[in-house]
Amino acid sequence: MTAALSVRGLVAGYGGVPVVRAIELDVSPDTFLAVVGANGAGKSTTLRAIMGLCEVFAGTVELGGTSLDGTRTSDRVLAGLALCPEGREVFPSLSVEENLLTGAIAGQGWTGRRDALDRVYELLPRLGERRGQSAGTMSGGEQQQLAVGRALMSGPTVLLVDEASLGLAPVMVDRVFEILANIHASGTAVVAVEQNIRISSVATHIVVLEQGTISDRLVADDVGGGLYQAAQAAYFGTGGT
Ligand SMILES: Nc1ncnc2c1ncn2[C@@H]1O[C@H](COP(=O)(O)OP(=O)(O)OP(=O)(O)O)[C@@H](O)[C@H]1O
Ligand SMILES: [Mg+2]
Repeated sequence: MTAALSVRGLVAGYGGVPVVRAIELDVSPDTFLAVVGANGAGKSTTLRAIMGLCEVFAGTVELGGTSLDGTRTSDRVLAGLALCPEGREVFPSLSVEENLLTGAIAGQGWTGRRDALDRVYELLPRLGERRGQSAGTMSGGEQQQLAVGRALMSGPTVLLVDEASLGLAPVMVDRVFEILANIHASGTAVVAVEQNIRISSVATHIVVLEQGTISDRLVADDVGGGLYQAAQAAYFGTGGT
């Protein structure tokens, strides 16, 4: 099967300085990949490089077998990638539905937009209930759901999610991870970068990122039901905390 997303030898950073190196990722249509790592490990940079949002010094990014190298971010969205950015970045004065519509893409038309909204409201019913509310008046967890919903509006084949758990209460973290699991179950490949290792309870694959490079890889099928424990051991070190 053609990988939905394939990243080979990616080196990327800012101002001529590499931050991530030798990044290799394979994402199939049925993959939920969690990229876990500490502050500053290069998680956001990896996602930005895949979206064409930072400097790429070497390596290739392919989606569905087609190279995206050198293409604009907008073309990558048209090709089937979407990013839910760190910090949510919803428009506080716009309503939920207006925010969602900013994630629509040219060529979808009104029928396509309506269908995309219906799909988002089905996966994220809270947004349907709140469709007329200003985004800035919603809770952090609701705003995170909105940011995920907005990224879904373009109908991505691979959804990239940057630190969805940031600043949320544990119960809301679990809710947001469950939503990502539902999105994955509905047929969208998911790549979620996280400091919160609880993401491993819903992932099929895990990579651990340390100081800009991949230090470990885990596959749920290989470790039985123990992905969470295996990820903890890889993340914190077996002799560590
Ligand atoms: N726009 C930028 N210009 C220069 N350096 C940057 C920029 N953004 C990030 N960096 C540097 O790149 C390194 C990796 O940052 P990155 O944001 O990718 O980490 P992260 O794993 O997402 O961290 P966090 O968990 O805090 O979000 C850090 O040393 C950071 O200072
Ligand atoms: Mg980050």
